[in-house]
Amino acid sequence: MGRLDGKVAVITGAAGGIGREAALLFSAEGAQVCVADVGREAGEKTAAECREAFYQAADVSNPESVQALYAETVRRYGGMDILYNNAGIMPPDDDSILATEPDAWDRVQAINAKGVFLCCKYGIPYLLKRGGGSVINVASFVAILGAATSQIAYTASKGAVLSMSRELAVQFARQGVRVNALCPGPVETPLLMRLFESDPAAYERRRVHLPMGRLAKAREIANAALFLASDESSYVNGATFLVDGGLTAAYVTPE
Ligand SMILES: NC(=O)c1ccc[n+]([C@@H]2O[C@H](COP(=O)([O-])OP(=O)(O)OC[C@H]3O[C@@H](n4cnc5c(N)ncnc54)[C@H](O)[C@@H]3O)[C@@H](O)[C@H]2O)c1
Repeated sequence: MGRLDGKVAVITGAAGGIGREAALLFSAEGAQVCVADVGREAGEKTAAECREAFYQAADVSNPESVQALYAETVRRYGGMDILYNNAGIMPPDDDSILATEPDAWDRVQAINAKGVFLCCKYGIPYLLKRGGGSVINVASFVAILGAATSQIAYTASKGAVLSMSRELAVQFARQGVRVNALCPGPVETPLLMRLFESDPAAYERRRVHLPMGRLAKAREIANAALFLASDESSYVNGATFLVDGGLTAAYVTPE
C-alpha cells in the first residue's frame, strides 16, 4: 500500500531539484505523476525514472500553458488530486533593492507568484470536481525571515505565495480542498549551490546560523510535501508549513 495510491499529482518544476525528488517519491508511493517543467530533457528523464509519470512541457507563468498542462493530465489520468506548485526561480540579477532592475522583479513575480496564482486558478476547479484535494504552494523561510543575502524580488514573491495560500485555504476548506504553504529552509539544490559556488563565504555565513549546522537534503523537503499531499494531513490546512531544521526558531550565534 502506497501513501498516495489512486491519486494523481501535478508537480511543477519537477525536472530538477526538490520537484524531481518529489516526483520520484510520490510515484513510488502510488501516485500517477505529471512532471511539468520548462526543461524538456531533464523533465523526460525524471518522468522515465518514475513508476508511472509523464513529462509535460509547461511554463507556469503562461495561462495557456498551465491550462494545457491540466488538460493533458486529465486526458491521461482522468482527474487530479494533488497540485504541488513547486516551480520557482532565483536569478542572479535579483539582488538588493538598489541593484535589482524592474525587469528582474517582473520575471521573478511572473514565475514565483503569478505562476502559483495560475496553477491554483486553473487547477483547483479540477480538485473540486473530484470532491477535494491537496494544494501545496512552495513559499520559503524568506517569507517569514529576512534573507541573509539580499534577493528582494524572490523574497517578495514568496511572501505573496504565503498570503495567497492562506486565503485559498479558507475559501475552499468546506469543499475538501486543503491549501498549505510549504516553506523550506535552505536546501542543497542546484538553485542554491550555484549561488554559493562563486561565493563560498556566503555558504558559511548561512551555515553557522542553522541550528542543525547543515542545509536540508531535497528528499527531506519532498518527504514533507508527501505528508501534505497524503490523507495523513487531512486536518492540516492554511498552514505555514516550515521545514527549516529550526532556523526560524532560534537565534544561533557562530561558534
Ligand atoms: N533550494 C532552496 O534552498 C529553496 C529554499 C526555499 C524554497 N525553495 C523553493 O523550492 C522550489 C524548488 O526549488 P529548487 O531548489 O528545487 O530549484 P531548482 O532550480 O533546482 O528547480 C526548479 C525547477 O523549476 C523549473 N522552472 C523554472 N521556471 C519554470 C517555469 N516558468 N515553468 C515551469 N518550470 C519552471 C526549472 O526548470 C527547474 O527544473 C522553488 O519554488 C524554490 O523557490 C528552494
